[in-house]
Amino acid sequence: MGFLIIEKGIRPGVALIRLNRPESLNALNRALVAELTDTLLEMEREEAIRAIVITGNERAFAAGADIKEMAEDSAVDMLLLDQFQRWDQIKRLKKPLIAAVSGYALGGGCELAMLCDIIIASETAQFGQPEIKIGVIPGAGGTQRLTRAIGKARAMEYILTGKFFSAQQAEAWGLVTRVVPVELYLEEALRLAEEIASMPPIAVQLAKQAVNKAYELSLEEGLHFERRNFYLLFATADQKEGMRAFMEKRPPKWQGR
Ligand code: HXC
Repeated sequence: MGFLIIEKGIRPGVALIRLNRPESLNALNRALVAELTDTLLEMEREEAIRAIVITGNERAFAAGADIKEMAEDSAVDMLLLDQFQRWDQIKRLKKPLIAAVSGYALGGGCELAMLCDIIIASETAQFGQPEIKIGVIPGAGGTQRLTRAIGKARAMEYILTGKFFSAQQAEAWGLVTRVVPVELYLEEALRLAEEIASMPPIAVQLAKQAVNKAYELSLEEGLHFERRNFYLLFATADQKEGMRAFMEKRPPKWQGR
């Protein structure tokens, strides 16, 4: 395969996917996105993988869709390729995804980070949706997810000007969970992934789904969704184990069942 470096089991239950097109600042060409989504779908089926970290390198998480590849495309090419439907597959993944971002996370790179469930940023991370500067707008969720994450006024300013914003701003505005020194951002993401991977996996998946519903449903519907998943978890061995272990004052042993 071409544009990814994959390490399964880098920590217990954790897989790491490293975007690897450094000469183009990890610009997301179609082959890379196809490889990434295929890899994620494969990991979704592997029971031993319970959390996935996506990263780039220190200089760039990803500097956006590959401008050179799409520059001469027509609207009909875009429509027929419908490349962004690939991104919807990432949205539907049940397993938790953590983005470990250093350097540029721009355009499609920022959108990829926002498709992940949690973003850990290095002090050097720079986020932005600079599409306006090349005559387009975000196409893989930026206008929607950035607005939900940092609020309409800020999203407007940054999407209409294409300016970048810093890791520290992203943290203050709630886009990223935390900012850590550049030597530690990947370590921190892996540590968090390992911690999540040590939790009962069905509960993790249902919790992820329920939190994501908060973006999509009314409060009434969201509460209903949450409650049904809560009740459903009482069908799992892990619920029995978790509650018994608590009462017996011992650590639980999860089965993922
Ligand atoms: C193709 C890219 C690229 C991109 C960088 N490169 N970003 N190639 N597509 N998005 C290439 C450069 O052409 C250059 O190759 C090499 O990577 C290094 O980049 P430089 O520009 O020389 O580095 P620097 O001067 O440090 O500037 C870094 C930068 C700048 C500020 C990140 O590269 C930049 O503005 N990139 C474009 C960012 C952008 O507009 N992203 C949004 C894309 S549209 P050569 O061969 O010249 O050395 C988008 C739509 C989303 O994402 C739709 C959903 C997927």
